[in-house]
Amino acid sequence: MNTADRTGEGVVRLEGRAKVTGAARYAVEHPLDGCLHAWPVPAGIARGRITAIDTERALAEPGTVAVLSHENAPRLGEPEDPELFVLQSPRVAYRGQYVALAVAETPQAARAAAAAVRLEYAAEPHDVTLTGGHPGLYAPETVNGGYPTDRERGDFDMAFAASEFRLDTRYRIPPLHNHPMEPHASTAVWEGPRLRVYDSAQGAHAVQSELAALFGLEPERITVVSEHVGGGFGSKGTPRPQVVLACLAARETGRPVKLAVPRHQMAQIVGHRAATEQRVRIGADGAGQISALAHEVVTYSSTVREFTEQAATPSRTMYASPHSRTTHRVTRLDVPTPSWMRAPGECPGMFALESAMDELAVTTGIDPVEIRLRNDTAKEPDSGHPFSSRRLADCLREGARRFGWEGRDPRPGTRAEGRLLIGTGVAASGYPVYVAPARATARAEAAGGYRIEVDATDIGTGARTVLAQIAAEALAAPLDRIRIGIGNSDLPKGPVAGGSMGTASWGWAVHKACRALLRTLAEHSGPLPEEGLSAHADTSDDVAARSDAYARRAFGAQFAEVQVDMDTGETRLRRLLGVFAAGRVLNARTARSQFIGGMTMGVSMALTEHSTMDAEFGDFAERDLAMYHVAVNADVPDVQAYWLDEEDQELNPMGSKGIGEIGIVGTAAAVTSAVHHATGVRVRELPVLPESLL
Ligand code: MOS
Repeated sequence: MNTADRTGEGVVRLEGRAKVTGAARYAVEHPLDGCLHAWPVPAGIARGRITAIDTERALAEPGTVAVLSHENAPRLGEPEDPELFVLQSPRVAYRGQYVALAVAETPQAARAAAAAVRLEYAAEPHDVTLTGGHPGLYAPETVNGGYPTDRERGDFDMAFAASEFRLDTRYRIPPLHNHPMEPHASTAVWEGPRLRVYDSAQGAHAVQSELAALFGLEPERITVVSEHVGGGFGSKGTPRPQVVLACLAARETGRPVKLAVPRHQMAQIVGHRAATEQRVRIGADGAGQISALAHEVVTYSSTVREFTEQAATPSRTMYASPHSRTTHRVTRLDVPTPSWMRAPGECPGMFALESAMDELAVTTGIDPVEIRLRNDTAKEPDSGHPFSSRRLADCLREGARRFGWEGRDPRPGTRAEGRLLIGTGVAASGYPVYVAPARATARAEAAGGYRIEVDATDIGTGARTVLAQIAAEALAAPLDRIRIGIGNSDLPKGPVAGGSMGTASWGWAVHKACRALLRTLAEHSGPLPEEGLSAHADTSDDVAARSDAYARRAFGAQFAEVQVDMDTGETRLRRLLGVFAAGRVLNARTARSQFIGGMTMGVSMALTEHSTMDAEFGDFAERDLAMYHVAVNADVPDVQAYWLDEEDQELNPMGSKGIGEIGIVGTAAAVTSAVHHATGVRVRELPVLPESLL
């Protein structure tokens, strides 16, 4: 039961019952008469081209309806993302790239037919290995998010050379993969000249616009439904190849087609966080005050498309640093194109920066909380703009108090329980406040109540519920009078659920539409017309009119306690505590879940997750959740999230900042710093494995 209507309170998910009873339908759960099933065929070489395709045996498999490849697939128009230009050419850019598609009466038959497709290749030598001195490294024009590739303030070399304390360290993060519980999945139905698609995506409009380009259709002729989505974490932030394949197969066969990406193909198909090698240099005085900071990132993309993880950007904004250099270099390898993953840029970048801050604390003999307080800044160093709000120091102090940081003996390896060494660590978090224009409609219905429509996506975050709360508050109506429609490209356009900007962006449009509706209602007399009264809102002008005199960012502090088994080298988390300052929290229940979810992912990044690129074979070794280890309940015994009230007039009418991604930022560094405190071993390459410590 919902006990509260207003924003801020812990309203339960509106669709919770539908989800747990199975009534909520995901992308391949819509019953459709005559539906076929598709199974993709991945490329068996890491670079080269297909010289022959033999589909005879595949077509002879019982139940097979069609086998598509570049030889017979319908031609496509150019998409924005060339990864979506599937079955159009014999070129192979990476092992696992989709090169054919079997379509059959059942998933089992499609799988058997896919396995029976025979391909011959002319293989070429491949290069899948990132090295700091890779000959292909170059400076891209910009990095992800449109940020400048390089930034230089003051004279880093001079200031670093003149510093009393000098730290020069390198950190490595392996490739990482998102594995949402619901794999990437699509159902496509051609209805005459119209295309209807159910897609597991973070934004229905984004899928619609790519399909329009690919199939040469007016966007209005395509309806994309993403009503329920079983997780995304960035990997569904852009359409993936399976939705294009489903549409191609449905067009070719004239029947509805379902395609769920098999788990063992996800590593190649849904994008990943590219590995990074990061060098951080910090020059500081005896009081721990930073004078010089350099953060240099080396990473890779595919030969298909440039994608550069913006990992040096946190060092432009976190701490006062009079002399600073931040750079990114990227090389193009024969690998799948990396993509968005869980606080892209910020998360890997903050692992390096916050690890370096801990090393600086150890080097200077200053407490790790204290050294961050000493380098706090009211102005964003790179832009010179004041922060619209910044309660990092309060997060650190409040976290230290709740965690019981005071009196911590900083000497490593001094706390033991039997064969277990115990240690604690801290790290700061930060995440930019993004917002994008959105549209929404609010309608007062003749029968009573309100209908709110916005193409928002709820990827498990509780977005639908929070938007209904925002509407209820703006309309001064009880929550049970609000009906809300999201997750459909026929609804007013909203941005993807990404960049932690969903609630701010869609919510702003919902708020504006509701306020406009109240004005319309105030001018109306008598009963409502049969179709009700509607108001439409578009926040393009509001978003554009936001003052650019401020830097906007959410902050937090993470505290971790670990135990390391001296005999086995196994590290286990004992507890993790985060305090965040992220504007106004609109739903305490779903916000807490998001913070804890992000923090859990951070533990996972620190202790268990990694993908291994096999240099000879040219592919990731981990193919499923038995090999790719995601933290489970037993790995996170005690995770606590708190937040501080934050009033910020420079955000949006709700006063909210994003909360989806900040939970992961900093967590891994808090954990490895705790490992250092426990053992005296500084792990600079993730994840922390027993062999790192023995
Ligand atoms: Mo998130 S990686 O911005 O979808």
